Amino acid sequence: MSDQKNGPRHVACIMDGNGRWAQARGRPRLFGHHAGAQRVRDVVKACPDLGVEYLTIFAFSTENWKRTQTEVAGLMKLFRRYIQSEARELLAAGVRVRFIGDRVRLSPKLSKMMDELELLTSRNDKLHLTIALNYGGRDEIGRATKRLAKEVAAGRLSPDDVDETTLARFLDTCFLPDPDLVIRTSGEARISNFLLWQSAYAEYEFIDTLWPDFTPAVFAETVGRYGNRERRFGAVTA
Ligand code: IPE
Ligand code: IPE
Ligand code: MG
Repeated sequence: MSDQKNGPRHVACIMDGNGRWAQARGRPRLFGHHAGAQRVRDVVKACPDLGVEYLTIFAFSTENWKRTQTEVAGLMKLFRRYIQSEARELLAAGVRVRFIGDRVRLSPKLSKMMDELELLTSRNDKLHLTIALNYGGRDEIGRATKRLAKEVAAGRLSPDDVDETTLARFLDTCFLPDPDLVIRTSGEARISNFLLWQSAYAEYEFIDTLWPDFTPAVFAETVGRYGNRERRFGAVTA
């Protein structure tokens, strides 16, 4: 039953602490977000050597719109810049990129760039990088339920056939295995609406490091601790 000796196949990261990192240096919050983007590059590169096949990162939540217009606009610009500057390297490194979250509130320009990056890297399979952008677990379950209800209303799906695997097929993450390990940086011990359904049996690591200080060495150390855990999935092990 337990497979943790092989290391986590799917790691999901709640990249938190950029604002505090910048604040500690007397700089604006966006300075922290730029430093955080550099860590994403490093962590993506580190995955294959650690045996991580799927990396899912929380870039912007459905609740992050509550921030100032300056910060939100700066983050949106940073996402466009990241896609533009990283596309070639991600393609060459064998990374397949996909996005989860609701596209409706994103600008058509950003959404188009996201589509293009997904298409460009669609034949890669060395690392599956999933970027959660305007993502919220409850929002995702709400949208999935609406789509499922439409299938029932159209007579294509019987209510009696609906079970947990049916709903999972309607989630944004339908192409992903469940995360084995969820890491949150910055010392906060909460999940802030990230992968609610998918993390039912994930292991969690809440670490004090702020995301811009999350180097490949810290990543490797955190992933390494997963090997000491016993995953039981409700069963009793000998
Ligand atoms: C996480 O860092 C990045 C995003 C939410 C986009 P924060 O911006 O939340 O940083 P803190 O938590 O304020 O330090
Ligand atoms: C979670 O971090 C969202 C992302 C990392 C994108 P937040 O900083 O938004 O979460 P709260 O507000 O501390 O719960
Ligand atoms: Mg935060």
